[in-house]
Formats: sequence, C-alpha cells, structure tokens
Amino acid sequence: MSAEKPKVIFVLGGPGAGKGTQCANIVKTYGYVHLSAGDLLRQERNTEGSEYGDLIETHIKNGTIVPVEITCSLLERAMIESSKNKFLIDGFPRSKDNMEGWERQMGSKVNLRCVFFFDCTDQICVDRCLKRGLAGSGRTDDNEESLRKRLLTYQRETMPIIMHYESLGLVRKIDAAKPEEEVFEEIKVIFKEFDAE
Ligand code: C5P
Ligand code: MG
Repeated sequence: MSAEKPKVIFVLGGPGAGKGTQCANIVKTYGYVHLSAGDLLRQERNTEGSEYGDLIETHIKNGTIVPVEITCSLLERAMIESSKNKFLIDGFPRSKDNMEGWERQMGSKVNLRCVFFFDCTDQICVDRCLKRGLAGSGRTDDNEESLRKRLLTYQRETMPIIMHYESLGLVRKIDAAKPEEEVFEEIKVIFKEFDAE
C-alpha cells in the first residue's frame, strides 16, 4: 500500500440488493478494486486444507456472520496483494463484531470515505436471490430457507451498523429497487458530489 492511506467505501444492503452488480460498474468507471467479503469467504471455504472451510460453510448456510478475525484478515490480505489504494468493500461490516474488529485491525490504516446503503424491500431481495439461484448461481444459500435466515441477520445485525454510520453522516442511501442502469446513474451523482475518484 502506498504512503497515502487507502480509500475505502463500504457497500451494504440486503442479499440480492445489487451490491455486486453495481460494484462491477464502479470498478469499470472509477477504477476501484472490488472486494466482496462473501466472495472471499467462499474462496477460503473452497481452498483445500483451509482450517476454516467447515466453519465458513456452516455460517453461510445459516446466514450468520463469520467471526471478524477471519473475514478481516482475508480483506486485509486482498488489499495488500492488490497493491492498489481505492477499495469497495462489499458486504462488510455486517455486524457489531465485524465493525469492531475492523476498527481494531484496520481503522487507523485506511481512509473511510463513505458507506453505500443499497435500500430495497425484503421481497425484492428474496425474488432476486431466488432468480439468481434458479439461473445457476451455484450458491448454497440462494434458497428460501437460507434466505429467510439471511434477511433476519440483515435486519437484526446489519441495519444497526448502517444506522451507526448514518449517525456519523457517512451513509449514502441508494434506491436499489430500480433497474440496474438507473441505480448506476444515482451512484454517478454521488461520486460527483463527494469526488471520491
Ligand atoms: O455478501 P454475501 O451475500 O455474498 O454473503 C454470503 C454469506 O457470507 C453471508 O450470508 C454470511 O454467512 C457470510 N458473510 C459473513 N460476513 C461478512 C460477509 C458475508 O459472514 N462480512
Ligand atoms: Mg455479493
């Protein structure tokens, strides 16, 4: 990482809200590096010999949150390995444990620019994830039972984190119910405003 602290944008919102889709758009237009905590956890789960594989899979199926020591270390490693200094951190911090662990390990090392909050109803989340599952996402948690649990975790554990960042004035709320192109238009306006490029 360069002398200047890396810029970080957290990307939060319910399952299927479009975080990954829009992060891909932001990467193309603004040159950020996209790090999805869920993707990094799935990768670690699939790594032969990982001591955390079973634990991660249990959490993923149950829609519960993996202990932050694991997730935060995966994120820090990916940041260092990228040798870049602008990061979209998608699906993190998702709980008090996530947030406090990040503060301890990374808080002073980065410049947290803002938190994107992809807002839509639970029904839209469910519809999109089931559609993704049917289209062959191959995810073990894009089914109705896991989804119920993921949404519960989102409401109980992630919403309070979003409220916390809101109270710090860091949240940029995005209407995630709209079609992909319109959501990205909204994101472009936000980038213009706070000039995070
Ligand atoms: O963000 P995504 O939907 O890919 O996350 C899938 C699952 O990965 C979550 O439901 C959760 O079990 C796990 N996860 C986690 N901690 C995070 C992000 C994801 O435990 N910060
Ligand atoms: Mg995702």
